Amino acid sequence: MDARSGFVVVLCLMGLTCAIPVKYVDCGSASGKVTTVDINPCPSQPCQLHKGSSYSVNVTFSSGVATQTSTAVVHGVVAGIPIPFSIPNCDGCKSGIQCPIQKQQTYYYQTTLPVKSEYPSLKLVVQWELRDDDKKDLFCIKFPVQLV
Ligand SMILES: *[C@@H]1O[C@H](CO)[C@@H](O)[C@H](O)[C@H]1NC(C)=O
Repeated sequence: MDARSGFVVVLCLMGLTCAIPVKYVDCGSASGKVTTVDINPCPSQPCQLHKGSSYSVNVTFSSGVATQTSTAVVHGVVAGIPIPFSIPNCDGCKSGIQCPIQKQQTYYYQTTLPVKSEYPSLKLVVQWELRDDDKKDLFCIKFPVQLV
């Protein structure tokens, strides 16, 4: 880690605002619209995710539909093949979102992403979807990460 990114991590540990919006690709947020994706700590991009550490994820989106439920589905895409990625709580309604979700409202989906120490060290693309009652995507985002 260089001095500059170390400094940013220290700011993060002190609880100061240090989140830089993550560059992401929209992979079909059919009914919603994502405005910001924050991963903390992620001082440089692609985000380096250290095995054994936990990261906070904060996705700001507006919903195009009303839905009672929201369920997160996360995949790690390695060489084009999506591999299911487990997260501690896939219930979006227990991840900072007050359900039922209403149309045209802005929500902050906030959760944690633990990185297991048994994962291999590689670059991959994280595909994160949040699905509505009809299993359609409220949002679908993709962003590259590096497991280290
Ligand atoms: C998530 O992002 C929104 C908008 O930037 C912010 O208001 C909110 O405090 C953030 N939540 C967390 C847990 O960082």
